[in-house]
Amino acid sequence: MNLSILLIFTVGSITINSISGLVPKVCVHNVSSTLKTCCPIPDGFHQPCGGVGRGVCDKVYTHWEPIARVFKNDDRMHWPTRFFKRMCNCEGNFFGIACESCWYGWEGRNCDRRVIKIRRNIFSFSELERMRFLRILEISNKMPSEFLVLEESSPEHSDPLVNPVFFLATFQEFIAFIHRYASRSTLFANKQMCSAFGYLDYNHNTVSFATWHRALMLHWERELAKIAMKEFQWKDFAIPYWDWLDAKKCEVCNNRYVGATGKYDYQNPNLVDRRRKSVSQLD
Ligand SMILES: *[C@@H]1O[C@H](CO)[C@@H](O)[C@H](O)[C@H]1NC(C)=O
Repeated sequence: MNLSILLIFTVGSITINSISGLVPKVCVHNVSSTLKTCCPIPDGFHQPCGGVGRGVCDKVYTHWEPIARVFKNDDRMHWPTRFFKRMCNCEGNFFGIACESCWYGWEGRNCDRRVIKIRRNIFSFSELERMRFLRILEISNKMPSEFLVLEESSPEHSDPLVNPVFFLATFQEFIAFIHRYASRSTLFANKQMCSAFGYLDYNHNTVSFATWHRALMLHWERELAKIAMKEFQWKDFAIPYWDWLDAKKCEVCNNRYVGATGKYDYQNPNLVDRRRKSVSQLD
């Protein structure tokens, strides 16, 4: 796992609407429906998205512009309308698939309490903090996420409109999936097209590089902080950074920190097979 690049960013103020991963569990049955609505009712509320004052179910606005024909099959185009056309539009600092949570940097019932997180150099962690951090990462590897991700090891099932197969991702698989999903090549009609046009990396080789990764890190940090709180009552947990200036090698790429480089096993077939399910099997 190469986290070095991801760890260096600190929070800035960003204004993107959502960093939704793939399909929230509660909405999977609506992926292939005609209305394509994903507007869950948050806990403790009676209306989708919480209702006026918190959030309303709205048509998703995406910026439309002419795209090359080769990209027309790509399920990421005009995101997320291939999956959902109506989603929660949250007001003020409310945020989340169902407007159930707060925008990053805010807390409280009304999301009006500012929280400032201080990120520390990973080498300033005490031995106890370091061990706890590793334990938190380990838990996130097994913890179920609220999302289903597309099974993309064969192209027949990766289009949401044609026999999609999803798998129940652990939180770490979900984070890894989002990262890969946004940087993988486009869907293609045949091998020739793929070698000519396949390359399409939205989250690295574009102006959105820093913003995209910041958003991913904010989401990752928030979920890790929940584990930190639950396991260790660690209140001010924030993802540590690695200061790579002058570094001769990746000093955190070892098992004392974020893990040594290992075998590439994204979507390990043994793991995925156990959990892959078509939409109709998900109940
Ligand atoms: C799924 O779609 C149906 C029909 O449009 C809608 O009533 C329901 O609220 C949707 N589910 C969610 C979680 O948005």
